[in-house]
Amino acid sequence: MNQRFILYFSVLLLAAGINACKTQSPTTSGTSVTQSQGVYQYRDEDPTVKPFFSDRVGVTGRNGMVASAHPEASQVGLSILQAGGNAVDAAVAVQFALAVVYPGAGNIGGGGFMVYRDNAGKAYTLDYREKAPGKASQNMYLDSAGNVRQGLSTSGHLASGVPGSVDGMAEAHKRFGKLTWAQVVQPAVDLAAKGFALTERDALGLNRIKTDLNTINPGKSYFLKSTVPTDTITWHKGDLFVQADLAKTMQRIQSQGRAGFYEGETARLLAEEMVRGNGLITEEDLKNYHSAWREPIQAKYKEYNVITMPPTSSGGVALLQMMRFTEPYPLRRWGWNRDSTVQVMIEAERRVYADRAKFLGDPDFVKVPVSQLISPDYLKSRWTDFSWAKATDSRNVKGGSIPGYESLETTHFSVVDKDGNAVSITTTLNGGYGSRVVVGGAGFFMNNEMDDFSVKPGVPNMFGLIGNQANAIAPNKRMLSSMTPTILEKNGKLFMVVGTPGGSTIITSVYQTILNVIEHGMTMQQAVNALKFHHQWLPDKTIFENGAFSDATIQALQNRSYVLEKLTNTLGRMDCVLIRPDGSYEGASDPRADNTARGY
Ligand code: GLY
Repeated sequence: MNQRFILYFSVLLLAAGINACKTQSPTTSGTSVTQSQGVYQYRDEDPTVKPFFSDRVGVTGRNGMVASAHPEASQVGLSILQAGGNAVDAAVAVQFALAVVYPGAGNIGGGGFMVYRDNAGKAYTLDYREKAPGKASQNMYLDSAGNVRQGLSTSGHLASGVPGSVDGMAEAHKRFGKLTWAQVVQPAVDLAAKGFALTERDALGLNRIKTDLNTINPGKSYFLKSTVPTDTITWHKGDLFVQADLAKTMQRIQSQGRAGFYEGETARLLAEEMVRGNGLITEEDLKNYHSAWREPIQAKYKEYNVITMPPTSSGGVALLQMMRFTEPYPLRRWGWNRDSTVQVMIEAERRVYADRAKFLGDPDFVKVPVSQLISPDYLKSRWTDFSWAKATDSRNVKGGSIPGYESLETTHFSVVDKDGNAVSITTTLNGGYGSRVVVGGAGFFMNNEMDDFSVKPGVPNMFGLIGNQANAIAPNKRMLSSMTPTILEKNGKLFMVVGTPGGSTIITSVYQTILNVIEHGMTMQQAVNALKFHHQWLPDKTIFENGAFSDATIQALQNRSYVLEKLTNTLGRMDCVLIRPDGSYEGASDPRADNTARGY
């Protein structure tokens, strides 16, 4: 984007913000986190509130850092870095390791997005999102009366798009890898063939889906350590988890590259599985799948350059819209999660998700007005109905007007190598364990990503997200995503690698985590530990983690008609890396699950 344009916009918004701050006098109340001379501390004004989920401390390294959802996968990434691999080698190894040790979201049967910044500052993004099968059609999940047939886009064979992960990793490695393909796939082969010890969370996850697994996959024995039927097994922490079929699939990928998945034995097994369950994916679909290198979105926020994912993900556009809506406001002075801070962030989120529903979709099929959506004039026009006195009513917020234009179960990992090359990858099956279809003889879960299309205009998907024609189903089209793998530069140097799972909450978690560091002065780990909130236009309510808001903040927001809902579960599973002023790396992993950072 044109630098003068950015500068002009910043001045414009700053002026608008200062004006807003001058003419209104918002109250601020609650707990704040303050930065003092580079020493990060939080000021606990209300002893009943603790802004952090835990006191976990970040991991420090100088030569490399990997943060992912599973200790085994982070260890694989670290080993690859220590063996002389670069950040892309480690990322490929982590993606495949997660497919073995974290079957709930790690995958070869799904897809994802990679943001890569090399140590010379050149940025790339790779879209390896799934595609609708060639036989898919716009109304495939509707009955003859035009009503949505519940469950078809979320569970079973018809819910799957054509997987992109293996092609994505092959592309990334071909272009940037340093070690051999065999070397980077080997850890996943070993983990599947020899097994690994389940964590307590791994065991709980497998036990939780037992019934579904048996209903959807009758008579199959896939990742079992024995021939005992799945429904009679209760998994425990420490059990050795061996996946013999998956090991063979990984070996085919290792020896044949992309063809080991999209052609031959694996493709045949996958297509046969689809026929068994009336799914649509054919061997032809697999052969035709290719990931896409796309121009990254890059835009300024203060002294930072934000490098993020363009469509097919909505994440990058939405993140920048939010950041720019609130850039003019003195968030740092107001304090972390004070009522004024939260109010402007909620109002930004409300408008951004309305735009997401209207404009965003696969850029290979629809024209997505990316530069307009993040432009100064457009954002200014979207903010005119903001009022300090009262929450904007989402019923009165529609997607903006541009002339000429009509589960938590994903996973993210961040890698930085010794030379400062950085990778930010978010990858998913969509829901936990995807469609819960395991490909017979190949041992991996298929995605249920078709639910990320708008199956019918205005009908919410599993994340409550609404879409329209831009995200309607069409053969070979990619479904819209919220995944937001992002890298920030500060004064031209690598500064932060960030991302999270969380369906529709991904974008707002990334937004808050970035602001926690650059506005509120937290360390990377504190920013990850910090409690979070989320608003997505519709439904018109703000959900928040227990403790994220003080009683005073809650009261102040409720006085202005905000509907607040305290969660019993959590938001985000962030895995991030921050480059400290002395050049060392701070690896931050989310204490809300098994996430682990490993560095050296
Ligand atoms: N499947 C969640 C997302 O892509 O946003």
